[in-house]
Amino acid sequence: MKIIAGNWKMNGTAAQLDEMIAAVSNVATRARVILCVPYTLLRAGNANIMIAAQNVSKFDAGAHTGDVSAAQVRATGATATLVGHSEARAALGDTNADVAMRAQNAINNDLMPIICVGETDTERDLGTGADVVRRGVRESVPQNAKNGEFIIAYEPRWAIGRGITPSAPQIMDMHKIIRETLDEMGFDNTPVLYGASVTAQNVRDIINIKNVDGVLVGGASLKKQDFIPIIENAE
Ligand code: 13P
Repeated sequence: MKIIAGNWKMNGTAAQLDEMIAAVSNVATRARVILCVPYTLLRAGNANIMIAAQNVSKFDAGAHTGDVSAAQVRATGATATLVGHSEARAALGDTNADVAMRAQNAINNDLMPIICVGETDTERDLGTGADVVRRGVRESVPQNAKNGEFIIAYEPRWAIGRGITPSAPQIMDMHKIIRETLDEMGFDNTPVLYGASVTAQNVRDIINIKNVDGVLVGGASLKKQDFIPIIENAE
């Protein structure tokens, strides 16, 4: 089963989410659809769509103004969360170890973490992209995680939000590296999503690349006229 995840980033209202949930619920698809929304919109999903947060705290509770815990996210009815998204890593200064703490808190609270890893354009140009991604997986997955408890999303940071799509061989190479790393770690049941500049036009080609189990969609997940065709074309 393929996974189609949308990431609304800092966009959207409750009315727009109502509309999107209704639209997704009307699509006959075998894909699992997940929508990552701002904290203010979190709620329970339904059989057709999982609702997810975009991050959770490293901490359980206490004096952390502005932060939101995994338990608080789970209490809204949401069932998943991004952790380590490149924008959040940049804004919060997260290391892989920080991301692993967030992912562990998600797992502890019955949320499925979607752990994001990816290389910058500088790292790619220096030829260290593969190492950064390998280390990203090794260090951002919590020590005690079990097979099936998390999802990985590969986001080439040089492509996100820029309308740039890596070539199919570039995507295939990186997904192979991630798959091999997960296998070495004993996780043979972990979906790996691709996430940058996915559209209704390119989703079919991307999702059929070896070791791509789904996509993480930013800009094109905001409007139903863009997102619904992505779900339809992902079969
Ligand atoms: P775009 O699809 O807008 O490139 O964003 C990708 C992303 O950040 C998904 O989380």
